[in-house]
Amino acid sequence: MSPALAFLGISILGTWGLASIGLIAGGIIMLVAPGDPTTSSSNTLGGIVLIVAGVISGGLMQLTLAPLLGLDPPLPMKAKDILPFTRMTKWANAGNIRDFTDGLPKEVRLRSQRVLIVRDGDNVLATTALCSHARLPLAGLPGSPIKAVPLQDGCVMCPFHGARFEAATGKVIRQPFDSQFNNDHPFLGRLQSKLFFWNKGAEDIQTYPVKIEGGEILVGLPK
Ligand code: FES
Repeated sequence: MSPALAFLGISILGTWGLASIGLIAGGIIMLVAPGDPTTSSSNTLGGIVLIVAGVISGGLMQLTLAPLLGLDPPLPMKAKDILPFTRMTKWANAGNIRDFTDGLPKEVRLRSQRVLIVRDGDNVLATTALCSHARLPLAGLPGSPIKAVPLQDGCVMCPFHGARFEAATGKVIRQPFDSQFNNDHPFLGRLQSKLFFWNKGAEDIQTYPVKIEGGEILVGLPK
């Protein structure tokens, strides 16, 4: 995807998302704010209409724009679906180690799977490229301000809502919407934690075996 297209998509997605949040917030305000007794019944009806419109608008936004941007539905991924390394017997070449910046996670497509390659010096680790909280890309979105976060203490951080995963094991180390992350990121953290009221948890993520042969990174994938 070109950076210009990604920027356009993110802009539309953001505006549409904020409009949906605005509708829901307006509806809630109409429901809870004390109104004129003579018009309170229409306030209630109006509030419900706004909330329903906001929810439908948000759902339509996910259904139409997310696939165009290559985003998956924001549904959690469960640790129970993680496959053991014994099932990873099909090796795919992810590229030469020199093509990966040390410490900066990068997404690659291997046999149609989205894999995150994490180079840590001469060592290379591989995990799924999607965060288990809401299937958003751990390497961020190209052309947008949401970029991959450098490896820290052996952990990959999701740039969307701040979940942290140990790159070697896939174990979730920090849940999304941690108070520190929310303080540092008012939009992606504090505001979106309200939007994700139905889904605030991340589980362990899939990791893949890696071997390096002649500088080439080989990742084991399921057959
Ligand atoms: S999508 Fe990664 S923390 Fe929410």
